[in-house]
Amino acid sequence: MFGAIAGRYDFLNHFLSANFDRRWRQTCVRELGKRMETAKPLILDIGCGTADLSLAFSKLGPVIGCDFCHPMLRVGAQKIAANNRHSPVFLLGADALMLPFAASSFDIVVSAFVLRNLTDIDRGLQEMRRVLRPGGLLGILDFGMPEIPLIAPFYRWYFCKILPKAGKLISGVDGPYGYLPASVQTFPRAEELKLRIEHAGFNDAEYKLLTAGIAVLLIGKAI
Ligand SMILES: C[S@@+](CC[C@H](N)C(=O)[O-])C[C@H]1O[C@@H](n2cnc3c(N)ncnc32)[C@H](O)[C@@H]1O
Repeated sequence: MFGAIAGRYDFLNHFLSANFDRRWRQTCVRELGKRMETAKPLILDIGCGTADLSLAFSKLGPVIGCDFCHPMLRVGAQKIAANNRHSPVFLLGADALMLPFAASSFDIVVSAFVLRNLTDIDRGLQEMRRVLRPGGLLGILDFGMPEIPLIAPFYRWYFCKILPKAGKLISGVDGPYGYLPASVQTFPRAEELKLRIEHAGFNDAEYKLLTAGIAVLLIGKAI
């Protein structure tokens, strides 16, 4: 599904979110940066796609981005070559449910708009915990559905009716942009995700609703 839209993915992401996706990634970097205890942390970005989050996190330390979709990784590799990076960014083909890293390999693990797509959310969280060192930080970004009365109906109309049509028109592919609202609506709410993160072996799990709850940032500290 992601392979079919890789070439238009970045444009659609920024266009359909009115560039809010960039802000959400920057918020993720800022919030984890505030809590970080290591000067130059080694960072893993799971489901890195076209590497936007990996590039944003290279501000804090070296990043390995992994994804199982090679067309997305190819776009990411071109961007990494063309961008100024603060620290090195490496890309790797890998499955989030079976990460090819030893336990306790990373200081920070991040993942944006991926958890919702995994066939087994808890297994994904357990893999994130396994590769983090004790005390390491987890940051997960994903979509939510706003519940504020004035915003919620308008957003629901945009997200469920307009976005799938615009996504299909621009990407030329039917499917992924219809799947997006469907997957967000069945995705657990932030409060439940926080509990599942704690259950996977994290302390002090917390979440922040971003842009009235359109996106959610979840943070945890590995036990
Ligand atoms: C919506 S994109 C997000 C990409 C990027 N993180 C971002 O912020 O734009 C979801 C990505 O997760 C990847 N993905 C989904 N399931 C995966 C899995 N089991 N293992 C590795 N990557 C996965 C997809 O290939 C896709 O590139």
